[in-house]
Amino acid sequence: MISQQTIQQILSRIDIVEIVGSFVKLKKRGANYLGNCPFHNEKSPSFTVSPSKEIYKCFGCGVSGNTITFLMEHEKYSYVEALKWLAQKYNVEIEEKEVSAEVRAQLQLADSLFIINNFAREYFTKALFETEEGRNVGLSYFEERGFSEETIRKFQLGYCANEKDTFAKAALAKGYNLEYLQKTGLVSIRYEQPVDNYRGRVIFPIHNQSGKVLGFGARILVKSDKAPKYINSPENDIYVKHKVLYGTYFARHSIDKLNECLLVEGYTDVVSLHQAGIENVVASSGTSLTQDQLRLIKKYTKNLTILYDGDAAGIKAALRGLDMAIEEGLNVKVVLIPDKEDPDSYVQKIGAAAFREFVANNKQDFILFKLQVSMQDAGTDSVRKSQLVNDIAETIARIDKLEDFTKQQDYIRQCSQLLKIDEQGMVNLVNKYIRERLQKREQQFTQTQPAANDDLSPEALAAMAAMEGAEMDTATEDFFNTDDKHEKELVKILLRFGDKTFNDENHPTVADYIFHLPYDFESLANGEMVKRILREYKTFYDDGNLPDKKWFLYHQDPDISKQVTLILEDKEAELSHNWVDKFEIKTVFGDNAYLRDTISTTNYLILRKIKKMIDENQEEMQSATEVEAQIACMTLHQHLKKLEKELTNGLGTVIFR
Ligand code: UTP
Ligand code: MN
Repeated sequence: MISQQTIQQILSRIDIVEIVGSFVKLKKRGANYLGNCPFHNEKSPSFTVSPSKEIYKCFGCGVSGNTITFLMEHEKYSYVEALKWLAQKYNVEIEEKEVSAEVRAQLQLADSLFIINNFAREYFTKALFETEEGRNVGLSYFEERGFSEETIRKFQLGYCANEKDTFAKAALAKGYNLEYLQKTGLVSIRYEQPVDNYRGRVIFPIHNQSGKVLGFGARILVKSDKAPKYINSPENDIYVKHKVLYGTYFARHSIDKLNECLLVEGYTDVVSLHQAGIENVVASSGTSLTQDQLRLIKKYTKNLTILYDGDAAGIKAALRGLDMAIEEGLNVKVVLIPDKEDPDSYVQKIGAAAFREFVANNKQDFILFKLQVSMQDAGTDSVRKSQLVNDIAETIARIDKLEDFTKQQDYIRQCSQLLKIDEQGMVNLVNKYIRERLQKREQQFTQTQPAANDDLSPEALAAMAAMEGAEMDTATEDFFNTDDKHEKELVKILLRFGDKTFNDENHPTVADYIFHLPYDFESLANGEMVKRILREYKTFYDDGNLPDKKWFLYHQDPDISKQVTLILEDKEAELSHNWVDKFEIKTVFGDNAYLRDTISTTNYLILRKIKKMIDENQEEMQSATEVEAQIACMTLHQHLKKLEKELTNGLGTVIFR
């Protein structure tokens, strides 16, 4: 929805050293900058930023990319979010393309809810630290639980006074809309009067990945049978429960670095573990994990470790939902926290180091753990035992075979051993479930219409866009595998020299020359990626403005951006000098290497096409039975041969007129 002009404006201002430098401490080393890699743990710096190439690369873990991919990776922004962040940074006013009235209204509503939540967060923090009731009741509660002031401030915890409507009054006085206040769940109407929903409770703000407040969890201070322990924000345009995990904002860097995500149940578990220095932890808020939450985790790591503190029955129920995690390709481990403790109490009891050690030593593989729990449960009951064989086979079937074939084989072997059943029988059973699943997927695929996005929140849309991007990443092959380097060279020429003068009055620029040849290079190219870039470039060209090379370098499609980075960097891809020498093209243009490269590259691609046509024509000639057809083939052959000869004689453009 951001206009092209705005994007080009933003891209032209990007200073990679400044942007990356605001997240990573960088030191100048020669032409480049060096720092500790934010994507993996390291003591000596191997993370390099090149201002001239506008890229970063870590020689330790191999990550690389440009300013936008940095923001996407490091801050988990979507492409659009990254652009908006940069726009704000560089004071570029965002010109939005026309959106429908409905979408606009939705965006405005979402903005309003964020603004109200932010006001509420500040209000509750003030109430906690700066009112007598807050300090006596709220703050002393947190202190009793062992939370330091630093921790409380970091998680932006707060307190809501135990009075009818102090918050509601303050918010209304500020001019916030009563209807929106109700939507956020902060205020409701009793006897036609606005009242505070979180009266006398401590407040846990729930943040999205970029730190904005989506909603709140408000905990009661005393045990009560009448009132719920927590009151959580209702679902609304910004708070979509099944897509949120508490703590992702604070955990994201640590999860990235440690390549593991710990999952706990409660707000307080997250806060306590953080305080102890264990930061790669998020909470499911007491419910079983949804697919969206699993995907959220997968954005950061494939290794999910679940810390359970419940009883056996509760654990069994929780395990049921985890088959989905296997399907998402996550490596799921479980750790049981000892009796009567939860992660919060346990870390406070034994300390951070012992806790870490406990987790490391008591990690169990999810599938084997599940099997053991169910085996104990089934005992000698043969009906239940056969049920559990089926269950576990179904779980194993969810491992994506292509991605993790050996893992699946391992599980089949280990599980059949534990169950004392025939391994081949298990293989057959697993395969049966795989077939069933594939059939189901196929049906779904043929049945589902493309989903309408109209009724989704902007957050959801952004999340979806990011998700689609992520999925494409694994699905896209390296398109350049099938490519010729001359195709890449053509892209490189367009991106680097497209706007340069071409020595020809009919074709002022290199781009003019290329697009006015009587050949369509998009169809001459084999590489899918080259085709796409040429097509997009041509669209710009037809509109009368050439795209900056940055347009492609920072392209929304990470594949294009990656490949263009490679193309622009790649010395190897430069034209083979044999080819140039052989056809003596350079002599015509003297020192203007880009002109020489333009002509020799386009000629090469055309020649390749002509050679292919000659081959095809010859085949046709051989199979032709009619005399007329043979003659037609021969005529074409002679014509093509003539073209080929002219081309290889290096006569440049003249021959095509
Ligand atoms: P817990 O009862 O373990 O809460 O529920 P907790 O956050 O760890 O708090 P403490 O340690 O008892 O003080 C786990 C999660 O389940 C959700 C909350 O998200 C909570 O963090 N929950 C629990 C509710 O939403 N409502 C409730 O009434 C209880
Ligand atoms: Mn708890």
